[in-house]
Amino acid sequence: MLSVRDLTVSVEDRVILRDLDFSVERGETVVLFGPNGSGKTSLLKTLMGFPGYRVETGRILFMGQDVTGLTVDRRARMGMGIAFQRPPTVRGVRLGEMLALFPGREAELSPILSRLNLTGLESRELNLGFSGGEIKRSELAQLLAQRPSFIMFDEPDSGVDLVSIHLVGEVIGELLEKDQPLDRRNRAGIIISHTGHILDYVGAERGYVLLGGSLLCSGDPEVLIDDIRTMGYEECVQCLKK
Ligand SMILES: Nc1ncnc2c1ncn2[C@@H]1O[C@H](COP(=O)(O)OP(=O)(O)O)[C@@H](O)[C@H]1O
Ligand SMILES: [Mg+2]
Repeated sequence: MLSVRDLTVSVEDRVILRDLDFSVERGETVVLFGPNGSGKTSLLKTLMGFPGYRVETGRILFMGQDVTGLTVDRRARMGMGIAFQRPPTVRGVRLGEMLALFPGREAELSPILSRLNLTGLESRELNLGFSGGEIKRSELAQLLAQRPSFIMFDEPDSGVDLVSIHLVGEVIGELLEKDQPLDRRNRAGIIISHTGHILDYVGAERGYVLLGGSLLCSGDPEVLIDDIRTMGYEECVQCLKK
């Protein structure tokens, strides 16, 4: 579904992602691990096409189409979606108005808000004064309204309490059609997680470790997070390279 080839990206003339090669198959959930500043958020923003992340070399293919030069809105219309780590506050735009942008979903909006414990927040400006949990759940509400086929979640488990994380995991599972066997799913996604907590609620087929802008290893996500917890990122990468 997504194929990244030889991707090198710079921001403000500094290379932040180097020679990345990986793909995400239809039905798969990939977890991306890595310390602060390793380039995880930059990778998702590059895949989504945010300005400022300059592709120096390489290609991003989505459903067989080269999307490398396309704008964010074109990629979103093609079925790519993202839940931000730290979404911006958008004054003047209410959450309800944001959700109503997706055509044909009017009847679903009220159930979506109630499912995510956001009833009443639709009249508030997007993320203005929202709590950490409300921000994460509002991101998921927008994805439930958009229903993208390829979904990127940037640290959905950070800053979320234990009750919310259960709900967040459940909704991510639904967005990625985890109730279906892998070969029946039509969606795929990447989840960034620092702690791996989300793995207690959403199963993932593969994990990658990003360190200093390079993808250094891949493997069973449960094994990777156990190794990272006991040995740290640097050692984990050394061990898997042997
Ligand atoms: N828009 C930006 N402008 C300047 N530097 C950026 C920008 N986005 C990311 N960076 C830099 O790129 C590096 C990787 O950041 P980031 O992708 O946020 O890491 P992570 O999500 O793994 O913590 C950091 O050094 C960060 O300061
Ligand atoms: Mg980040």
